[in-house]
Amino acid sequence: MKEDNEYIQNIMNEVAHQWRQPLSHINSIVFSIDSILYENGIKNKEIEKKLNEIESITKHMSKTIDDLNNKSMENDDTIFLVNVFDEITTLISSRLEKERIKLIIDVDKSISIQSNTRTLLQAIINILHNSIDALLERNIFNAYIKINVSKTEKDISIKIIDNGGGITENTMRKIFDKDYTTKHSTEGSGVGLHMTKEIIEKHLQADLNVYNIDCGVCFEINFKSSTLDEI
Ligand SMILES: Nc1ncnc2c1ncn2[C@@H]1O[C@H](COP(=O)(O)OP(=O)(O)OP(=O)(O)O)[C@@H](O)[C@H]1O
Ligand SMILES: [Mg+2]
Repeated sequence: MKEDNEYIQNIMNEVAHQWRQPLSHINSIVFSIDSILYENGIKNKEIEKKLNEIESITKHMSKTIDDLNNKSMENDDTIFLVNVFDEITTLISSRLEKERIKLIIDVDKSISIQSNTRTLLQAIINILHNSIDALLERNIFNAYIKINVSKTEKDISIKIIDNGGGITENTMRKIFDKDYTTKHSTEGSGVGLHMTKEIIEKHLQADLNVYNIDCGVCFEINFKSSTLDEI
């Protein structure tokens, strides 16, 4: 357990280190594009919108890096899940729009938990990117991802459902294994869900499960009662 945590922390530090420089490079490129547009008197709402999106994505990545370096992976905030999903929507809307994938989120405004926003956000984004990958790879017509949050007295469950065709039995057995991937080495490394499960179970004190449904997959995150907010 201790070695596992150290192992995760080492990966986190490595990722943080590797990201810093390219991130500041991206920011300076956005700044140059902004300046070029301004100097040439070009006003284009679409380009401005896209540049703002890049800025909000790099801002999110920088915040994540700060969190990783501060080792702030404890359960320390009261999080309203609706806010987490708003931020997630902003971060991935551009990819979803481009690929014509519908995102349907059903969450009650009043639902909150005691947890760490950035860690939860990162875990959910990893799951969403896999769904998007599956929808694209299989060229699904009317592609969608549905997120449903339900609360009982005892627990809160977040379900992330896609219609991407599901997971084979063989993949299902190894899906959380480190380095297991069905993607080409340029598209995936097989670390995503391994890390996501570790983060959810060890740092967020929740459970992560996956199962096939009619036309796709459901990833389910369950928060145990100790992490729920008493309101
Ligand atoms: N929603 C999904 N639908 C179908 N298959 C999925 C889905 N989510 C995950 N998988 C399968 O599980 C495998 C492991 O996922 P994981 O996120 O760990 O690695 P990856 O996406 O291949 O690479 P990366 O480390 O870059 O995320 C994927 O390669 C894919 O085959
Ligand atoms: Mg992945």
